[in-house]
Amino acid sequence: MVPMTQKKEAPPFRKTAETFMSGATTLEQRYFVSPEIFAEEQEKIFARQWVLAGHQSQIAKAGDYFVQEVAGESVIVVQDQKGEVRTFYNVCRHRGTRLCEDAMGHSAAIQCPYHAWTYALDGRLIGVPHMESVPGFDKAEYSLHAVKLAMWEGFIFVNLAQEPTPLEKVFAPLVGKFSHWHLPGLRSAKRIEYDVRANWKLMFENYSECYHCPGVHPMLSKISPYDSAENDLCEGPFLGGFMKINAGKSLSMSGNACALPVGDIKAEDHARVFYYSIFPNMLLSLHPEYVMVHQLWPHAPDRTTIVCDWFFHPDAFARKDFNPEDAVEFWDMTNKQDWHVCELSQQGIASRAYQPGPYSPRERIPAAWDREYLRQLE
Ligand code: FES
Ligand SMILES: [Fe+2]
Repeated sequence: MVPMTQKKEAPPFRKTAETFMSGATTLEQRYFVSPEIFAEEQEKIFARQWVLAGHQSQIAKAGDYFVQEVAGESVIVVQDQKGEVRTFYNVCRHRGTRLCEDAMGHSAAIQCPYHAWTYALDGRLIGVPHMESVPGFDKAEYSLHAVKLAMWEGFIFVNLAQEPTPLEKVFAPLVGKFSHWHLPGLRSAKRIEYDVRANWKLMFENYSECYHCPGVHPMLSKISPYDSAENDLCEGPFLGGFMKINAGKSLSMSGNACALPVGDIKAEDHARVFYYSIFPNMLLSLHPEYVMVHQLWPHAPDRTTIVCDWFFHPDAFARKDFNPEDAVEFWDMTNKQDWHVCELSQQGIASRAYQPGPYSPRERIPAAWDREYLRQLE
């Protein structure tokens, strides 16, 4: 046993050529436990970067809306009468009251629950009881405050910055990369929310390697060899590549395909699953017949909500061979295995005994993710 009151010396660590090449250790403890760093991340990353809020299929009709908290701000995401996606601060222009309390819904207009000021779905103030006698009052000056919005492959991204770098510029490395999966047209068959007692970065680091797969995911490892990863994005805000799926197999409980293919999947991609992390809150997993998307929403240094959707081809839903639960159950099991080790990591990292440890050659992507995170925090 090591007396915990003494600071331990770093254990001797032999640097092999490979580990030296990666030259990386895990992050310092403060990045996982400090409320100050958490606040800094919220301000510098979640309030300034393009953050995934959802998919356009969630608001398929005019008046459909959902509400998403982003860096402490409540944001309304709505389809307006013209079919455009709009995003607004959930704040009344009269006395600031929260407008929408429900997480999602359908409404012809946005009406404040306090004094009934009413806004059109495009944010214009259209109803203001008893304000006509106020000298100089002009409804046109009291539209809802818009939040910056951009679409990428059918996914809705928001940015709280006043003048953000355009999403097209930030996402330039991904333009056209996933077009044959037809992501804009997909629909989610299932959403599961997980409340994870771990820092959000641990889930990114976990997602970015399969070094842990043989021990943590025995079933996944049988279908997809843990050492088969081939990454094509290895530095920067977008990281990942593909892993092999054994011939004729699928990542589902039965091991069989559970729906028709999501898009024009190339022959070789029928035996591949693509995993990409998209900084700062999206994990995109592309399978031949479904697409799994995780959104990560940090609430505290040691607490994260993870929203997981399973998207399928819109025509798959009406077919007899549609069995989404086969994939959902498989990944719900696998997700929970991952969140469990992330929670164990959080517990150990919070210890006074924790010191950054050396990444293995199989953890180059988490090491690259950490580098990008530190760049973004500068
Ligand atoms: S605060 Fe919204 S109408 Fe008064
Ligand atoms: Fe995992």
